[in-house]
Amino acid sequence: MEVNKDLVLKALSNVQDPDLRRDIVSLNMVKDIKIENKNIFVKVNLTTPACPLKDNIKTECVNEIRKIVGDEYSIQVEMGSTVTSHINEMKEKLLPGVKNTIAVASGKGGVGKSTVAVNLAVALAKDGASVGLIDADIYGPSIPLMLGVKDQPQMVGENPNTAKLIPLESYGVKLMSIGFLIDNDTPVIWRGPMASGAIKQFMTDVLWGDLDYLIFDLPPGTGDIQLTLVQTIPLTGAVIVTTPQDVALIDARKALRMFQRVNVTVLGLIENMSYFIAPDTGKRYEIFGSGGGKKAAEEMGIPFLGDIPINPLIRVGGDTGKPIVIADPNCEESKKIMEIARNMAAQISIRNINAPVIPKIEILNP
Ligand SMILES: Nc1ncnc2c1ncn2[C@@H]1O[C@H](COP(=O)(O)OP(=O)(O)O)[C@@H](O)[C@H]1O
Ligand SMILES: [Mg+2]
Repeated sequence: MEVNKDLVLKALSNVQDPDLRRDIVSLNMVKDIKIENKNIFVKVNLTTPACPLKDNIKTECVNEIRKIVGDEYSIQVEMGSTVTSHINEMKEKLLPGVKNTIAVASGKGGVGKSTVAVNLAVALAKDGASVGLIDADIYGPSIPLMLGVKDQPQMVGENPNTAKLIPLESYGVKLMSIGFLIDNDTPVIWRGPMASGAIKQFMTDVLWGDLDYLIFDLPPGTGDIQLTLVQTIPLTGAVIVTTPQDVALIDARKALRMFQRVNVTVLGLIENMSYFIAPDTGKRYEIFGSGGGKKAAEEMGIPFLGDIPINPLIRVGGDTGKPIVIADPNCEESKKIMEIARNMAAQISIRNINAPVIPKIEILNP
């Protein structure tokens, strides 16, 4: 039997992307096939470098090709990625180099929203994605501290009308914070009206370059300020952070309704401070109750992206500017955060692949 590209392609059409529920050939993920002597080389591009199923898909590719070509051939599969893009006219205008924008929201303050936003951003960057993070929490901008950034962003350009800001960078994540524009003495009542203007400026006047994911840490709550912000940003989707207790879950539902009202896809729910494992005894304590987030996500009909236990190291990581996924990448919490980031990336791919193709409307007589 002669082994040719068509035969290899046929074998690969039996490999499914379990998230997207389609085979990798029809998803156009097979980018290259080379057959030289008894060596087969295949390049497969997934929809994100943070694919939770990368290793499984790779193994399946090898297995399916092996089934057809037998043992004589060596098979090499290289996994790459091309991140899918959220197609949206307002986004093309404001953030042309940014493929996806994600809001991290919570109905209630203090649930660990900023901690989660920072660790998700760093996790995606660790997996090889290009990532930006905007601290939009007008009540308590905390991200520069959590990423160990002490500088102020620099401007380029002489003309103040066209000058651009260079984002700061930490652990491979580009960063801007509303704290750079609003100092601590600004009264809270002024911050609301300033917020959407500042966020617009962050979208248009910052040299983000090409980004796969731009994450926004929103102010907690579901009031007018939050509503205005989610309408100001062309959002690919939102994730909601909650703790397992009832009060936080009630507020998480409010956050879900806010996003539904403005037609923003909710990519999923993350439960933080889920439980505590005592380091001396290994005993598990469910301080805020247990399993509430997962159950609530099921009831709300949104994906559950995962849970993160309470660990003092997570707080220390925030206070010392070294997120836990960097400080202690092999601990249980870091592994869980990496998994949550990959689940979120998968939900973004699912959202983009399933998004209806909207024809561009040309306005002839504006
Ligand atoms: N899983 C966790 N384990 C331990 N401490 C946490 C965890 N998540 C957050 N924290 C800590 O709780 C506090 C509040 O978190 P933060 O991310 O600032 O919340 P939010 O942005 O929702 O107000 C911070 O001191 C943070 O370090
Ligand atoms: Mg915060």
